[in-house]
Amino acid sequence: MKQLKVGIFGFGTVGSGTIEILMTNSEIIEKQAGCPITIKKICVKNMGKKRSFDIDKSMLTDKTSDIIEDPEIDIVVEVMGGIEEARSIIESSFRKGKHVVSANKDLISLYGKELSDLAKENNCHFFYDAAVAGGIPILRSLQFALSGNKINKIGGIINGSTNYILTRMEVEKLSLEEIVEDAKALGFLEEDPSADLEGLDAARKCAILASIGFHSLVTSNQVYVSGINKITLEDIEYADSLGYKIKLLAVAENLDEGIVVRVHPALIEKEHPLASVLYEFNAVYVVGDKVGQTMFYGKGAGALPTGSSVVNDIISVSKNILFENKPELAYDFYENKEVLSLKNLSFSYYMRLLFEHDNNSVSNIIKSLEFYNIPIYSINQWQKEIDGKQYDEFVIITNSCRELNLERAVEEIDMLPNVSLPTRVIRIERGL
Ligand SMILES: NC(=O)c1ccc[n+]([C@@H]2O[C@H](COP(=O)([O-])OP(=O)(O)OC[C@H]3O[C@@H](n4cnc5c(N)ncnc54)[C@H](OP(=O)(O)O)[C@@H]3O)[C@@H](O)[C@H]2O)c1
Repeated sequence: MKQLKVGIFGFGTVGSGTIEILMTNSEIIEKQAGCPITIKKICVKNMGKKRSFDIDKSMLTDKTSDIIEDPEIDIVVEVMGGIEEARSIIESSFRKGKHVVSANKDLISLYGKELSDLAKENNCHFFYDAAVAGGIPILRSLQFALSGNKINKIGGIINGSTNYILTRMEVEKLSLEEIVEDAKALGFLEEDPSADLEGLDAARKCAILASIGFHSLVTSNQVYVSGINKITLEDIEYADSLGYKIKLLAVAENLDEGIVVRVHPALIEKEHPLASVLYEFNAVYVVGDKVGQTMFYGKGAGALPTGSSVVNDIISVSKNILFENKPELAYDFYENKEVLSLKNLSFSYYMRLLFEHDNNSVSNIIKSLEFYNIPIYSINQWQKEIDGKQYDEFVIITNSCRELNLERAVEEIDMLPNVSLPTRVIRIERGL
């Protein structure tokens, strides 16, 4: 019976989950794949590092060539992260006729098309389901399970770290800074959490989701992105009192005139299913023209959930090898749609404004909003005393209006003489 051999780059979080599943579920995996799958080599950076579990030391190497140049290795698993080195390893693997499984969203969201073209040229399979929403099989579902649909919209919570922070702020009534420090100490956040907090991680995943769902290339630098770093406990509490929760959402829309891809904090109604996605969980909504709404829910990161997706990809590659199938590449586009700016789109907004007390503030605000055609749904006003001084805080909910108009109105409001803080604006998501 044929045996397939795997070479793995990376023995960190995802690598250890993948290795553990390949070793402990080997019987199930063999039955599913149709042949035994064994790990031949694991390439790491630091050979002396203590690993999360024992493996035969002869399997470890720090030489890339021990995998790339080994003719017995059929499948390369890249779970080391980073861009340039990972790219070069994947390219060399394809040139040697090796099939590749990766979890690398940073790389795929930028170079997925080039890598897929090279895979095709070399008749190699290339899967990366773990790159988006870890354990949730969302890319596979878009590529295979929903392929008879025109996908109109994909959206949801695809960054577990920021969802964890927002949930704890809401539940424990602590500031973002306090939760971030605690989450770092607990190992839930990296020492430099900027890619999560600034929304960049979600933007990379959003680009991959849009590309595969809409069959048109979107790269991560085309995604509008704004993170959660400016969200305060006050925003969470005001939103709560008005019937909303704040979530970092990634939304991709497939419109006739082009594609919209955006990642930003948003207010969503408490009754919306996404509002009850808590802590590190992810959920992705997909709206297809025939299937209607579907929602995928689960863990978006972690050793075993992400390893589960990697192993599933390894099994798919193995079956394809055994059946001598041609590569089916998710980044194989038949559409070439423009990515649209948000400026001409319309949203409803939450605005929070702080003014030194002055009886004219409210009329000045309303004047600016009316001038720019911003329809007001509600205005709430609170009196606040800060360091012995009187302030008025306003929370305004608008009806749908053009983004560009809102930006202009906010610029004008922020020039008013008694403004104490730049106006805080958060979109309200109504279309998901
Ligand atoms: N963590 C998650 O839950 C998650 C979820 C979805 C996708 N991903 C993606 O999966 C990938 C891996 O993430 P991770 O969290 O597992 O990272 P990690 O814990 O930092 O592990 C990285 C591993 O790669 C090895 N490595 C780094 N540079 C190398 C090089 N030049 N040559 C050989 N090995 C090298 C490291 O070796 P040493 O151990 O010797 O340092 C380490 O074992 C990333 O692309 C990430 O975006 C992660």
